[in-house]
Amino acid sequence: MPIIRWDNSFDTGIEKVDEQHRKLIELINLAYDAIAKGREEETVLKLIDGMLAYAQEHFEYEEQVMQERGYDGLDNHREQHRKFWEEAERFRNNYPQNTEVLQIFTYLNKWLANHILHEDKKFV
Ligand SMILES: [Fe+2]
Repeated sequence: MPIIRWDNSFDTGIEKVDEQHRKLIELINLAYDAIAKGREEETVLKLIDGMLAYAQEHFEYEEQVMQERGYDGLDNHREQHRKFWEEAERFRNNYPQNTEVLQIFTYLNKWLANHILHEDKKFV
């Protein structure tokens, strides 16, 4: 059972961006599953790899759209994307000793609230 579902208030109105943002919702649900299923290694690694894949696929596209639209907050936005990438790499490198899936779950929820619902909406 998913803990979070897509809500219309998450929409940016840019179809491909919204499609990619839905993947973040899937990652939050996967993190929740990983906790519920006793943090099995396979699920946690799938989650972290999913974060890296999400970052790789989505950020570049979103930055490109921002550039095309002449968004003046692009540098700052790019920096936030870089931090997400670094955080995902840190989770990957520190697993299993120093990565707790609850940290990932919390991080992704914060990213949804602060980044997707706030920063990504500034330019649309
Ligand atoms: Fe973004």
